[in-house]
This record gives sequence, C-alpha cells and structure tokens, in this order.
Amino acid sequence: MKVHVDQELCQGHGRCYALAPELFEPDDLGNGFAIDEGDVPAELEAKARLAAANCPESAVIIIEDADDATEAAEPT
Ligand code: F3S
Repeated sequence: MKVHVDQELCQGHGRCYALAPELFEPDDLGNGFAIDEGDVPAELEAKARLAAANCPESAVIIIEDADDATEAAEPT
C-alpha cells in the first residue's frame, strides 16, 4: 500500500499528520505530505485508512495495488 496527498485538494486541515505522524508530515504551510515516498508498512495500513477517512477534502489517496504490483513482479 502507498499513500499520496493530492496537493490540489489539501487545505491544510492537518488531520492526516495528527492521526498518522508516521506516514505524514506538514510542510511550512501546514499542508500534509506523505513521508518516505508514501510507502506504508503493513502495520500502519489501518492508520493510513484512518487518515484518508478523516481528511475533510478527501485529499489523502490510498493506493492499494502498490504492494500487489511488487509481489507480482517477484519470482515465486
Ligand atoms: Fe491536507 Fe487533508 Fe491532511 S486537507 S493536511 S491532507 S487532513
């Protein structure tokens, strides 16, 4: 899973980095940014979903397929 903050939609409500500081941080204006290129460790997936559900602007985008694509590319 990956997360992404749509900067066109983000209005700096700050719920993402308040709820999931492991995944998001504010810039100088208080807009949220995904940390570590948006990679979400498995143990933080629930927090990523919580942040997405609580953003009033729906600016937090969850990319569910990110891990699947990696797994599909690995030899079995
Ligand atoms: Fe922006 Fe939503 Fe976070 S508006 S600061 S992405 S809670």
